[in-house]
Formats: sequence, C-alpha cells, structure tokens
Amino acid sequence: MDSFEKKILVTGGAGFIGSNLVNYFVKKYPDYLIVNLDKLTYAGNLINLRDVENAPNYRFVKGDILDKSLLDKLFGQYDFDTVLHLAAESHVDRSIDSPDDFVHTNVTGTVNLLNVARKYWPNTEGKLFYHISTDEVYGSLGDTGKFTEKTCYDPHSPYSASKAASDHFVRAYYHTYGLPVIISNCSNNYGPYQFPEKLIPLTINNIIHNKPIPVYGRGENVRDWLYVEDHVRAIDLIMHQGRNGETYNIGGNNELKNIEVVEKLCEVTDEFLGRSPIGISKKLIRFVKDRAGHDWRYAIDINKIKTELGWQPAVRFDEGIRKTVQWYLDRQDWLKQVTSGAYRNYYDKMYKNRGL
Ligand code: NAD
Ligand code: TYD
Repeated sequence: MDSFEKKILVTGGAGFIGSNLVNYFVKKYPDYLIVNLDKLTYAGNLINLRDVENAPNYRFVKGDILDKSLLDKLFGQYDFDTVLHLAAESHVDRSIDSPDDFVHTNVTGTVNLLNVARKYWPNTEGKLFYHISTDEVYGSLGDTGKFTEKTCYDPHSPYSASKAASDHFVRAYYHTYGLPVIISNCSNNYGPYQFPEKLIPLTINNIIHNKPIPVYGRGENVRDWLYVEDHVRAIDLIMHQGRNGETYNIGGNNELKNIEVVEKLCEVTDEFLGRSPIGISKKLIRFVKDRAGHDWRYAIDINKIKTELGWQPAVRFDEGIRKTVQWYLDRQDWLKQVTSGAYRNYYDKMYKNRGL
C-alpha cells in the first residue's frame, strides 16, 4: 500500500462522471491507488469500469456512504490522503418524486465522509477532501448574467437543496475544524456512460427506438453543456493545483435551449443511422407538462479556473455531441443492460405520468 504515491478514495465511481473519472485516473496515474466506493444504485454500473477492473492500482468496494463502520474500516485499511466525493442521488425529477434519498445520501452521506476524514487526518498536511458539486446550488438565472463563485446560494429543487446543504457542511468543516477542502460547481455534463434518464442519453435512446421524446414546457429552458472529459480534466487540475478552502466554477461556455439540444440530437442520430431525410426523428418530439419549479437558465462564469489554473473546455459541442451519439449507438448493449431490471418500472411510470 505504501508504495503508492497517493491513496485516493473516489465515491460514486460507478456512476456517469465517476466512471469517466476513474477510467481516466487509473490509466493516467499508475502510481496512485484508486479505491472506488459505490453503492451501485440504479445509476451505478460496474460495466462502466470494465477497462480498469483488473488494474493493479484499482480497487472496487460495494458499499454505502451511510455505512459509518465501513467508512471507518476503509480509512483504517487504506490510509487515504485524498477524497474525491461524487456519490450522490443526482436526478432532479427523482428528487421531486421522492426527496428523502437525496437528504440521506447527499447530506448525511457527505457529513459521514467529512467526519471520518476528520478523524483519520489529525495531521492535515497533504490531505484533501474534494466535493464535486453542481451549479444548480446557485438557483436560476433570468435571460442574462452568469453564476460566479460569489453568487449567493438559492437552490430550488430538492436535489439542488441537498447539494447546497452538503457544500455548506464541507465549508463548515474547513472553517470549524481546519479540514482541507475544495469544492467545484459544474454545469450540465454529457458524454459516455450517462444514465439514459437525463436529457441527452434519454433522447438518443428514444430516437434509436422510435419512442416519443418528452420535452418539458416549450423546451426554452437553457442549460450550459460540458463534455464529461473536460470536467474530469478540470477535477484533475483542481485536485493537484487548487487552493485549500476555495471554490471553482466549471462550465462549458455553451448555453443552449433544450429544444435546440433535442433537435441537434435528432439530426446527428438520423445521420449516423442513415435515416432520411435527416431530422425526420424530430416528429418524435412531444411537449409535455413542465417540471415543477423548473429552473429557467444556468450559465457559468469560468474566469477563476481559467485565470488561476489555465483550464478551459477543449471539446466543442458539435464535436462532443457527435462523439456521444456515436458512443451510444456503438454501445446499445450498455443501454439495454442499464435500462433493464428495476429501472424499467420507474421509466414506465414516468412515461405514463407524462401522458406518453
Ligand atoms: P450518477 O447518478 O450518474 O452517479 C452517482 C453514483 O453514486 C452512482 O454510481 C451511485 O451508485 C452512487 N451512489 C448513490 N448513492 C450512494 C450511496 N449512498 N453510497 C455510495 N454510492 C452511492 O451521478 P453523476 O451525474 O455522475 O454525478 C456525480 C456527481 O457530480 C454528483 O455529486 C453530482 O451532484 C455532481 N454533478 C453532476 C453533474 C451532471 O451534469 N451530471 C453536474 C455537476 C455536478
Ligand atoms: P436533466 O438532464 O434532467 O438535467 P438538469 O435537470 O440537472 O438540468 O435535464 C436537462 C434539461 O432538460 C432540464 O431543463 C429539463 C429538461 N428535460 C426535458 O425537457 N425532458 C426530459 O425528459 C428530461 C429528463 C429533461
């Protein structure tokens, strides 16, 4: 164990961003030990990690961040110096249907991790607790303006409220106990391994199967989209060069209305599937009842991370979306596997509720 240069606990490493991050870190840093703790909820799948599952610097532990004795055991066993905390319930629609899991995992789970880090890190030199969070903690923008690191928190959904609470706890542990922490707040990610209930993979999956594409309200809400690999590169940089106690906003400089995203996906998927005329899948679009409390617009000012750490998005949306569509078309086995079983019931119920 001591032969590793760093010993990193990644939580939620079988989910969308987590698995992209684990795949990247295990390959890029053979001298770092990566221990991935994941409960494997509907959103976490070990097939996301096939490429690294036998790597000598990788371990997987199936477990819950609510299990305090497991956290204690893992810190005792591995002597972590870094926590990259991604485990969360992450879907706004689910948080509206049943907020409790969001409070348990996102708030209590985060506090459990902070407590165990504090217990095992009496000497804080070389230690870092890094919380991966969302721009949704800042609430909703009107037609102008951007979120900066100084924007006041104003979460609207149970999901964003739970992430805001966990961010506050992370900062409280920095101020009260001197725990070394960093938080980053990122905009909407897209790319491989995203569970197909979020807008982009859901739309691609539905186009493949000629199923209706639900667009909430008039599809005019705006999101800022970032290719997941760019997010992982930002996390890598922040982990190594970010300043203790700081917050970094991460975004794609890429604001789009939901309807623009869905129409683009129809065109690219039609092109790759050889459907004619290109764009014919737009006939699948259905404007459905709006999401309760639907945030209007998110946009990120990335000036801080750009000037301090030299990060900016590298993958343009046009390129990222083509890579993403191609990935889902190539990995229909993956789509099939992750949408079978318990998830099926949720999906069917959701569609019924939306009158589809
Ligand atoms: P995801 O839902 O795809 O993955 C979450 C992972 O956490 C899953 O593997 C799940 O099994 C695991 N998990 C859930 N509850 C757990 C528990 N109690 N104990 C252990 N593991 C548990 O989420 P994601 O999209 O990869 O997001 C990862 C993190 O990044 C989250 O904290 C999210 O808030 C944040 N984030 C996401 C986005 C985005 O666009 N997806 C943007 C900004 C920030
Ligand atoms: P989503 O991918 O759930 O991410 P978030 O809510 O965290 O931004 O949704 C992205 C946007 O797409 C959001 O404005 C809601 C909208 N949306 C739809 O219009 N239809 C859908 O089926 C889904 C899942 C989302």
